Amino acid sequence: MLRHSVYTKMLVAILVLTTFVSAPLSALGQKVSPVAPSRAQVEAVVREAYEKFKNDTGGKNADYIPYLAQVDSKLFGIAIVTTDNQVLTMGDIKYSFSIQSISKVFSQALAMEEFGPEKVFEKVGNEPTGRAFNSVFAVADMPTHTGNPYVNAGAISTVSLISAKTADEKWARILNFYSRAAGEKLTLIDEVYKSEAATNTGNKALSMLLAKYDRIYADPFESVDVYTRQCSVGVNVEQLARMGATLANNGKNPTTGEQVIKAENVPYILSTMIMAGLYDGSGGWAWHVGLPAKSGVGGGIVAVVPGKGAIAVFAPPLDEAGNSVKAQKVIEYVANKLDFNLFSPRSVGLKSE
Ligand code: DON
Repeated sequence: MLRHSVYTKMLVAILVLTTFVSAPLSALGQKVSPVAPSRAQVEAVVREAYEKFKNDTGGKNADYIPYLAQVDSKLFGIAIVTTDNQVLTMGDIKYSFSIQSISKVFSQALAMEEFGPEKVFEKVGNEPTGRAFNSVFAVADMPTHTGNPYVNAGAISTVSLISAKTADEKWARILNFYSRAAGEKLTLIDEVYKSEAATNTGNKALSMLLAKYDRIYADPFESVDVYTRQCSVGVNVEQLARMGATLANNGKNPTTGEQVIKAENVPYILSTMIMAGLYDGSGGWAWHVGLPAKSGVGGGIVAVVPGKGAIAVFAPPLDEAGNSVKAQKVIEYVANKLDFNLFSPRSVGLKSE
């Protein structure tokens, strides 16, 4: 009897101890994914990636938008937000950078909230262009002319589709939607907007070409203006990771609990991200990383790990296709170390014999 109660006490002690010791090490995204790595594992891998790539000098800031050329190219921040609302950040996490093309994901999502996926597919499409993100040739060559919602032409067309009585009302709808995905109020970086608005003749040309093919659904220049504003929204790396985590969590913001994006729309959005999220770099990205992601010329990239969370990295220097060099390296490193590649059976826990 005495022995029995000693055993019981020992068992209770072990249970209490493991609960307290393992609490801070709980698995990231564990609520929804049985194979999520532990927080300690993720922290260690993110730290390794940060140290390994912080002095990487590859790439060059975008300069076709004058403001972006002046941003400190050494800025470097990483954030992970999980579907069970854990947050892990490292480096320059307070800096607010322009979201640029990453905005296109959330305008696509907003258009789908209003019209559903099939209408957006019909009006804009979902095919790779095999050309630069701002290509005029793609508009002229492709049967759909718009390509997909992530090249500039398709993104301007998507913005034109979103309904509103005035351009200001449309802009307010877009900003509100992005803010709900980020879990806090986002604002325009006015200098970025002014800098891009003064130099965006190429996008204006694209909008006129879309008009020629009847693939723009509101006033062309007004649509370019709202598009330019959406690209100039400021985000820090944690806000960006939370926007990604909202997608990872079936459209529900894991921090606020709000269902921002209809769950049934999420797979369509992720399909565009894997196919065109890094423009001409998308095939290589799918090959090496295997995660839906989106880049912006501001230096941000967000990658979504469905059911688990999202990782966002900010580092301004870009490669030839317009994707942040360091951000790609960090995400590839973390995804490979933690078995996040969606095309690998290991991502759902299958290990080789
Ligand atoms: O329209 C543009 O060119 C920019 N506002 C956005 C382009 C962009 O971010 C492409 N990214 N990789």
